[in-house]
Amino acid sequence: MSALDLSPEEFQSLAARVTELATRFLTALPTLPSFPSVSGQETRACFGEPLPESGMKEAALEMLEDVVAMSRPPSPRFHGYVLGSGEPVAALADLLASVLNQNITAWRSAPAGVTIERQVIEWLAGAVGCSGFGGSLCSGASAANLMALAMAREAKGSLPGARATVYASSEVHMSIPKAVALLGLGREGLRLVPADSCWRMDVHALRAAIDTDVAAGRKPIAVVATAGTVNTGAVDPLEPIAAVSRQHDLWLHIDGAYGALAAMASPERLRGLALADSLSLDPHKWLYQPVDCGALLYRSPAAARAAFAQTGEYARAFGSDPLEAFSFFEESIELSRRFRALKLWLSLRYHGAAAFRAAIRADLQHASNLARMVRDAAELELMAPVELSTVCFRYRTNIADTDLDRLNAAILKRLIERGRIYLSNASIAGRFALRACFVNHRTTDSDVAEIVPEVLAASRDVRGA
Ligand SMILES: Cc1ncc(COP(=O)(O)O)c(C=O)c1O
Repeated sequence: MSALDLSPEEFQSLAARVTELATRFLTALPTLPSFPSVSGQETRACFGEPLPESGMKEAALEMLEDVVAMSRPPSPRFHGYVLGSGEPVAALADLLASVLNQNITAWRSAPAGVTIERQVIEWLAGAVGCSGFGGSLCSGASAANLMALAMAREAKGSLPGARATVYASSEVHMSIPKAVALLGLGREGLRLVPADSCWRMDVHALRAAIDTDVAAGRKPIAVVATAGTVNTGAVDPLEPIAAVSRQHDLWLHIDGAYGALAAMASPERLRGLALADSLSLDPHKWLYQPVDCGALLYRSPAAARAAFAQTGEYARAFGSDPLEAFSFFEESIELSRRFRALKLWLSLRYHGAAAFRAAIRADLQHASNLARMVRDAAELELMAPVELSTVCFRYRTNIADTDLDRLNAAILKRLIERGRIYLSNASIAGRFALRACFVNHRTTDSDVAEIVPEVLAASRDVRGA
């Protein structure tokens, strides 16, 4: 027997301790501060121990209490970044996924896992109006965007001597410049198209940029439209962008990491998703799944295989049954992949699509409620239109813009220290904005009603008023 082996009794006892701790955490969640009161030095001092030579057995679990205490809780009043709230049924599935330790490379390696992932992809595609698309789960939209642009480059090729060029709005997420750089297209390979006054891509400017580049001998290959920008939640004009892409034979990738799943509740805000060649979306954002759970959907599995299929003898499928011969690694940059689909599958089956639609609808409503509260507060101003579930605003007083930037940054820091509400920030036309993003199934109307009073209280703290 290996020293690493556990008896079933030991496993059960450890699992009971972990689930007891998780249950206590979930019970306390509504009352926990939105950020733990802990410093970098304290976290380092707590966890900076040497690697133990001898096993501590069950005593090793004691420090899980510290892990919990020093974690930023998925509180109902957490509205930072674009981060889903961690649905607990999915968390239980994650435990089982790790115990099963399936490697979701190919049906040959993981019959149930591969079949469930294919089913979940079909569900996701159908839920956002893209029935018939293929795809796979991945770590998140950064990976999905990279794969999409690799497919675009393969599909649209390049003219010898002509520089391949990708178009995206100036509001595009940083994962797109990163993907362009990783694909070796160079900084000049990404053309940032200006956004309009609502922070959506300016389609006239897109046409002009393409014309200029073609005249200069460059080779446009792809347009990245964003369905829900990270700053303000703006949705680029998907249908007009699709028309431009078609006219110039460009690959259309839609980065719907944040916003695409809102199509489940409000399809009219996201018309045109189905015109994409590829679409990123993140169940760990607006489907409330624990990280990590991203997805890339695409119209043509053949295009994915053209970019990614490389089969070694060690991974060759035996037999000709199309289900049993299926390999995710021929359509993805990853070979070894965890069983991400299990959590999404269990969570969707447990709660049902209607419950997720209702939660997304509630998030959209929270954002419009907060926007109204901001408009009603004389000391606050909205900084951008509210298109999905993001509200950008700032405290204003009669001082210069640069001083307002500093003041609002100080208000944000103080707000987080106060521990009730967690917001993050955005830069809107170069100005510092407080930013609330609702992709949190735990948030209630009364949590939203606390935001403005807390921001005003933080502003009084900062100004010594
Ligand atoms: C629009 C957009 N694209 C891409 C990403 C990157 O997603 P991930 O963190 O899952 O890699 C984000 C993250 O917030 C995003 O908002």
